[in-house]
Amino acid sequence: MPRPKVGIVGAGNVGAAAAFLLTKRNMCDVILSDIVAGLPQGKSLDMNQCRMADHHDATVTGTNRIEDMEDCAVVVITAGVPRKPGMSREQLLEINTNILRDVCEKLKNTHAHPVLIVVTNPLDVMTYAALKITGYPKRRVLGMAGVLDSNRFAHFVAERLRVSPREVQAMVLGSHGDTMVALPRFTTVAGIPIPELLSKEECDALAARTRDGGAEIVALLKTGSAYYAPGSSIAAMVGSILFDQDRVMPCSVLLEGEYGLKDVVVGVPCKLGDGGLKQIIELKLTPDESAALQRSAAVVRENIKLLKL
Ligand code: APR
Repeated sequence: MPRPKVGIVGAGNVGAAAAFLLTKRNMCDVILSDIVAGLPQGKSLDMNQCRMADHHDATVTGTNRIEDMEDCAVVVITAGVPRKPGMSREQLLEINTNILRDVCEKLKNTHAHPVLIVVTNPLDVMTYAALKITGYPKRRVLGMAGVLDSNRFAHFVAERLRVSPREVQAMVLGSHGDTMVALPRFTTVAGIPIPELLSKEECDALAARTRDGGAEIVALLKTGSAYYAPGSSIAAMVGSILFDQDRVMPCSVLLEGEYGLKDVVVGVPCKLGDGGLKQIIELKLTPDESAALQRSAAVVRENIKLLKL
């Protein structure tokens, strides 16, 4: 059987990290594109030159043409610019919406019918914009954020309790930002909810560090933001879709009444398999948890209003 193909738009830090992991694990061939001439070609050549040492066959092909993604089962969009000093959130929103529009319209002009995974920030709003620009059904437009935030939460829990991260299942819902909703009740170590192992104050502190997890890395790196864990989170989503694994992971998707929310994109637990989103799982939230999710959705909604589509 031929290997499936996955397109990655944006050959920057996150796009390249995802391409590297996907091919290293021999999961798929990758078409890596960027607007910068030579960048995706150079990174692809470098990655392909790992194959003898790493014993894998999957290839990365660099291109500057999104049209080359015509037969990709999944397309991951990491193209965008980071927020720079002096740039308002509104300006970032406008610039990245224009980049997203450029990418989505080019994709629409091909015969491609991929599942889209949006990674460009501000994540939930960009996922909403991708839905509107492509007109794809909601099952084929997913935002990658909750998997990353849950990975971060799991790391902090594992470190605090000195247990293997393999024993931890973490759940972070809501928008990918200051209002994300880390849920200790649904975060477990070998099936034991962490409120049984840690005080409320300790759970809250780990949730707060998770919320600020991206900023903590930016402050350390000084130039640029995280990319290893984002790349690994992308690979987890891509794997579940390509191999119909039905894994359940928090993803940003369009809500149409679930959790009492409509016409807004935020992170909720999703079953991912062949064709993308198979099911949204509705958790029974406490009034406090539910209020936090509503607050998070309200922030996304405010930003959606700023979109000039
Ligand atoms: N088409 C294709 N690629 C583009 C376009 C476009 N229209 N516009 C910009 N790019 C490319 C840039 O040339 C750059 O190589 O997107 C890439 C972005 O890479 P980085 O600046 O390294 O950013 P990265 O750290 O990879 O983050 C990408 O993911 O997590 C989010 O906030 C992050 O929105 C950002 C995105």
